[in-house]
Amino acid sequence: MKQIINRCVVSALLVGGIIMPSVAVGAEGVEINHLGPTNTLVRVKGGDNYLLLPVQEHFEDDAKINVLVDGKLEETIYVRLARTKTDYTVPYDLSRFKDKNVVLDIVTGQSRNSVRDAADDVCWDEMIITDTFDTTNKETKWRPAYHHTPLYGWMNDPNGMFYKDGVWHLYYQKNPYGSKWQNMTWGHSTSTDLITWEAQPDAIRPDGLGAIFSGSAVIDHNNTAGYGEDAIIALFTSAGTSQMQSFAHSNDNGQTFEIYEGNPIITLDTEARDPNMFWNEKTGEWNLVLAHALEKENLFFTSPDLKTWTLSGTFGKGLGAQEGVWECPDLFELQIPGTGKTKWVLICNINPGGPFGGSAIQYFIGDFDGKTFTSDTNPDGTVTTKWLDYGKDNYALVSWSDAPDNRRTTVGWMSNWQYAADVPTMQFRSANTVPREMELFVDDEGELYVASVPSPELLKLRDKVVDKASNKTIGEKETSYKLPADGICEIDLSFQATESDVVTFTISNPEGEKVLMKYDAKNHRMSFDRRESGVVDFSTKFPAVTSSPTFEKDGKINLRLFIDRSSMELFGNNGEFVMTNLVFPNAPYTTLSMESKNGDARLDDLKVYSIKL
Ligand code: FRU
Repeated sequence: MKQIINRCVVSALLVGGIIMPSVAVGAEGVEINHLGPTNTLVRVKGGDNYLLLPVQEHFEDDAKINVLVDGKLEETIYVRLARTKTDYTVPYDLSRFKDKNVVLDIVTGQSRNSVRDAADDVCWDEMIITDTFDTTNKETKWRPAYHHTPLYGWMNDPNGMFYKDGVWHLYYQKNPYGSKWQNMTWGHSTSTDLITWEAQPDAIRPDGLGAIFSGSAVIDHNNTAGYGEDAIIALFTSAGTSQMQSFAHSNDNGQTFEIYEGNPIITLDTEARDPNMFWNEKTGEWNLVLAHALEKENLFFTSPDLKTWTLSGTFGKGLGAQEGVWECPDLFELQIPGTGKTKWVLICNINPGGPFGGSAIQYFIGDFDGKTFTSDTNPDGTVTTKWLDYGKDNYALVSWSDAPDNRRTTVGWMSNWQYAADVPTMQFRSANTVPREMELFVDDEGELYVASVPSPELLKLRDKVVDKASNKTIGEKETSYKLPADGICEIDLSFQATESDVVTFTISNPEGEKVLMKYDAKNHRMSFDRRESGVVDFSTKFPAVTSSPTFEKDGKINLRLFIDRSSMELFGNNGEFVMTNLVFPNAPYTTLSMESKNGDARLDDLKVYSIKL
């Protein structure tokens, strides 16, 4: 239990010319000395427990905390220590430093006038030692039921995903000390079904070279790096004053990583990040694609051993969307359906500059000769900008390495840098998309595109059919169907709009909040309007209408809509068009309505499935 204790005088400070002792205060086992208006020492003993750090969500100043263990600098972390009100606490794990002296040398913001001011901050009284940290879900309204989320704190990009021995490993950009971006660490979760995820201990923590930014991981089947057959090798960006690429290996299937003492392994004199590597069967060497962020291009490297990399090519300057920085690339080969031939796909996440503002995923289709990528071009030599997702909330999507059955399974971060830090959740911030399989398809004009097909595992989510219909007319008069009471469902419907101009599908709740999805039969486009979907006012960039080409010409559409507590993922015609959008309704959506303008449409089939939780 928390106890305020007074301890003997351990240091002194000068107030108005008189030396005043600084009295150590703090909860049991926590000794706090205020040394000045912006500097405080917190001393604890390492053990099987945590020091809780109180955080104030909207307080912009991060305290800089140098953690000293037995007098040596262990790490520096940044935490928005609560000043006037504690919104939540985060755990500082002391089990790594058993029986050692742990000193947090804390420098807070500059706005305090005196040491007394500093001592008034609420965080000091609430820093307590505890055996357990409560991660019970407090975000019952909006924490997704079947999407991956961190147990607590901030998450952005998925990282280093690999599949081994039946386990899907998902690492991610994590802040262990708050719900906003900071202290980038590789968090880790595992799954055997791509649906239910188990949180694992943090895998790679910041070191002397900086924070651990995005990267990839592979299984080194042939022991090319010398850490043993099937060792896991991770490459990531060390982000300190500059960005450089670093190496780590794991001999326990990705549970713990040892950071290479010879890091960094790739240095450039310009900003580059998010290394993504793969074994090239044809050339018998490793390939790596690296985002040359500010140059808006990708760099390619080759390596025999995953440590020594040689620059082999560049691609992208002046091509595709060039507005934002280029980040998180991925490169893989896919079959062209019905031809026995293949093409290479270069995924190129960009921010900002997406079709609806902020973050988005563009991709190029072309060839890769083991050294560099070349894009397919139009007859006039131009390159069409292609988007993988026409919603606002799918970013930093990359694929799993070593996925079974030649699958190219991917997952994205379901948010947008425009408002990711402002979405109305606090215990956790952000979820991943549902898993999606990358497949090529050819449109009516013979142009190749990438489809995002819902992974087959998602079929197992289907529980009861809560409503259904077949062979019904969709007319001017609205018809309505039931969604489950908790609003969590998959809607699978097929319709034909051969006679109609616009078919509107509305997902709504009794509070009048709604999402409108309109199919425009003339222009072959589908739109998604979340302007009245619920809470939308946390950012001016959030209330939006997104819209996608549907890539068909016959007005026949199948939609699979995955609704979770705060997201909708709309897959059209087996993923040929996709819109991923967050929504924050005040009550679950319980109704699906449809209507058609200027002529009837036909509902061939509808099934609303509740979800097996
Ligand atoms: C993309 C990104 C990456 C970087 C990471 C840092 O969202 O900016 O380029 O590695 O986030 O968290």
